[in-house]
Amino acid sequence: MITLENVGVRYGTGPEILRDVSFRLAKGEMAFLTGPSGAGKTTLLRLLYLALRPTRGLIRLFGEDVTAVSRARLPELRRRIGVVFQDFRLLDHLTTFENVALPLHVAGVRADEYRDNILELLEWVGLGDHVNAYPRVLSGGERQRAAIARAIVSKPHLLLADEPTGNVDPQLARRLLRLFVELNRLGTTVIIATHDASLIAATPGARVMTLHQGRLSITPAGEAA
Ligand SMILES: Nc1ncnc2c1ncn2[C@@H]1O[C@H](COP(=O)(O)OP(=O)(O)O)[C@@H](O)[C@H]1O
Ligand SMILES: [Mg+2]
Repeated sequence: MITLENVGVRYGTGPEILRDVSFRLAKGEMAFLTGPSGAGKTTLLRLLYLALRPTRGLIRLFGEDVTAVSRARLPELRRRIGVVFQDFRLLDHLTTFENVALPLHVAGVRADEYRDNILELLEWVGLGDHVNAYPRVLSGGERQRAAIARAIVSKPHLLLADEPTGNVDPQLARRLLRLFVELNRLGTTVIIATHDASLIAATPGARVMTLHQGRLSITPAGEAA
């Protein structure tokens, strides 16, 4: 599903932020990406959702060398990837429902086919009372949950979440984690960047990738903390 070989990234003429990063994740695996602030977690996720090309090294995604793929093909590849951005990126002029429906709407699914699913999903993430609210009236935690719902609504092959529980209390964080675990059980490969050691401890089946000074170490499958 994902292969990185000796990947390096630098921004402009700055130092290498990621250095010789190599790992493989099989389809259906779940992994946490951890490491101190500034370690390069968001940078690594940006490589994987094809917003950034590496300065060197190889990245294969869904069996394709994405470092060589044409720009024209990026939208098609990105449609298989759900992303929870650290800064949410909801559209201000759309309601919660419309924001979450957007990936399906864009894919040409009819509203009557997804309406009930979305209402159920919004109920599950605790946004049942905010279906028709606009992002500006939502709290940070509510926006985060809307962003999570949007990322998972189309059951992507790969889900990338950047600090997805950064703005919610521990109880809700556990609940959201269950959503990711459930999605993973249904076959989605999941990578969650997080500082939260308790989330990692609560997910014994997941692999743990740790970034430190630009280098990545990964626990073998089945040996996660
Ligand atoms: N667009 C950018 N231009 C220059 N430097 C950047 C850019 N984005 C991130 N960095 C730098 O790259 C390093 C890693 O950042 P980031 O990937 O956001 O780490 P993390 O998500 O682990 O906190 C930091 O030193 C940050 O300042
Ligand atoms: Mg980050």
